[in-house]
Amino acid sequence: MHTDWRRICDEFMQATSYTPEGWEAWWADREYSNTERPETYLTYPDAVCHIPLGDPERPPGVDLWQVFEQRRSKRNFLPEAMSLNELNLLLWSSQGITADMGQYQLRTAPSSGALYPIETYLVVNAVEGLEPGIYHLDVKNWQLEGIQMGDFRAQGHAALRGQAMTEHAAVNVIWTAVMERCRAKYFERAYRYVWWDSAAVMENFLLAATGLGLGACAMGSWYDDLVHDLLGIDGVQHFSALTASVGRIAGEDWLHDRRPPTPSDFLKKG
Ligand SMILES: Cc1cc2nc3c(=O)[nH]c(=O)nc-3n(C[C@H](O)[C@H](O)[C@H](O)COP(=O)(O)O)c2cc1C
Repeated sequence: MHTDWRRICDEFMQATSYTPEGWEAWWADREYSNTERPETYLTYPDAVCHIPLGDPERPPGVDLWQVFEQRRSKRNFLPEAMSLNELNLLLWSSQGITADMGQYQLRTAPSSGALYPIETYLVVNAVEGLEPGIYHLDVKNWQLEGIQMGDFRAQGHAALRGQAMTEHAAVNVIWTAVMERCRAKYFERAYRYVWWDSAAVMENFLLAATGLGLGACAMGSWYDDLVHDLLGIDGVQHFSALTASVGRIAGEDWLHDRRPPTPSDFLKKG
């Protein structure tokens, strides 16, 4: 199917542009109350398990400037597990609460209007002390909620468009957007804001992975419906916004670590 991409894009950009002339009319019949904001925290009270994360243990002596310099997309994952503390550090760096403003809380990553529409789901393949399965991060109570336990390596790989790295990653992360949190304030322009928010979360995650000596790579390419089915979300009010793979890499040569794994490469290491 050949879609009319130019018209679709132009209509969206025009309909969501602010202009000096249009500013007052835009807001004339719209209201937003900071005290009546939609619920910020998604939890799964009926989750099959709850894994408390607690405060992660920080490794000493990471040089911020070196982290910027060394960050690369690394896809050639070793068949080794990550530790739960490493996963906790990645999650805290990208979504951890760091200040309490009373009616709302602030986090490690910035968020437009402090609305925090982004949720974190994990397809866990190999994390020490964590049963493989699909998890959701309960940000408020800082715990993982098990949605479905079992080996979802193949299903995750398929939903993430079969990208080779996703099969070998210790964890595949799927960041989703709960639209109403952002829509309630920014209306149609919220469909810009949620992508920006997801990128802020993703970049913190990638930099933390670099600081830990792990490999990580963001992905903008996945099969939307398959991902939504995997997570059990509707794909309209709550949809996938960005994904990433993370895991151990050899760490000897970034060019080697950077390229996707090939079957022969993997046999050598396995
Ligand atoms: C939003 C976004 C989506 C991306 N999607 C993919 C992807 O689907 N597959 C992939 O292998 N790399 C993906 N990448 C990684 C880019 O290819 C990579 O960042 C780029 O080649 C620059 O290399 P560097 O990250 O090592 O500096 C993505 C990066 C970003 C920021």
